[in-house]
Amino acid sequence: MADRYALITGASSGIGAEFARQLAAQGVHLALVARNEERLNALRAEIRATFPVAVEVLPADLSEESGMAGVVTFIQALPGLDYLINNAGFGTTDLFAESDIDRQLRMVAVHVNATLRLCRAALPRMIERGSGAIINVASVSAFGPTPHSPTYSASKAALVNFSRGLQSELRGTGVRVQALCPGFTRTHFHDGEEFKGFRQERLPDFMWLRADGVVRDSLRALRLGGPVVVVPGWFYRLAVTFIQTPVGRFLLEAVSG
Ligand SMILES: NC(=O)c1ccc[n+]([C@@H]2O[C@H](COP(=O)([O-])OP(=O)(O)OC[C@H]3O[C@@H](n4cnc5c(N)ncnc54)[C@H](OP(=O)(O)O)[C@@H]3O)[C@@H](O)[C@H]2O)c1
Repeated sequence: MADRYALITGASSGIGAEFARQLAAQGVHLALVARNEERLNALRAEIRATFPVAVEVLPADLSEESGMAGVVTFIQALPGLDYLINNAGFGTTDLFAESDIDRQLRMVAVHVNATLRLCRAALPRMIERGSGAIINVASVSAFGPTPHSPTYSASKAALVNFSRGLQSELRGTGVRVQALCPGFTRTHFHDGEEFKGFRQERLPDFMWLRADGVVRDSLRALRLGGPVVVVPGWFYRLAVTFIQTPVGRFLLEAVSG
């Protein structure tokens, strides 16, 4: 089998690091992108100790034009990518009217601008080769209004709609697109200063997903030719289905004020 390559953003932690482990286990060579070079190198060492794959570390801040441009240049120099996983992301919890607007705009840049730039860089080769997969990591928050993080849910909704439209454009090319929409997942996402008021232990266990399960569901759906929008876990699949019904939409509007 020919060598396969994946580029994963936000690979220094959580869901991105898990994509790296599971793809390495399938013999896929990796390029890992995030800001924290030390953590990327540690993951590289862990993977290289277990799997015979090449691992390239690409430190980059995807909220900066220069960071995005560096990754674009790297992709364009490759013979092709089999997987592009746009996973880097973060959340905020303050009210929008009181928020640091630069941080909100950096979130849009990491979630949306970087995803668009990297997809645009990777797609011509994927189309030419008639294969490849793009996974855009969105969130269940894409499906409803979320007070205290409207920028987050809006940028994730953009990723879901972008992925749907892009997959329609790519019909018949052999290239597949997935919008992966996890609910609460145990990663470092909620660990920062930003989330100090968020009491994780108040959420029941069944609402917490594991990163390895989220990634397994995503890769399984790709393998089986599943839908564009993938929601891991029975609880969140039910919730997303319900909030898209008229009663669900009404209740959601009512509880979110
Ligand atoms: N955990 C959840 O409950 C949950 C639920 C739904 C969706 N998600 C989504 O899942 C994705 C992965 O998050 P996670 O849960 O795995 O959280 P995480 O453990 O905090 O990982 C986030 C990753 O994004 C990277 N990142 C953040 N800002 C970046 C920037 N400016 N430039 C480059 N990389 C950046 C981080 O790396 P550096 O800090 O090293 O840059 C890290 O590798 C995110 O898109 C998140 O929105 C998470």
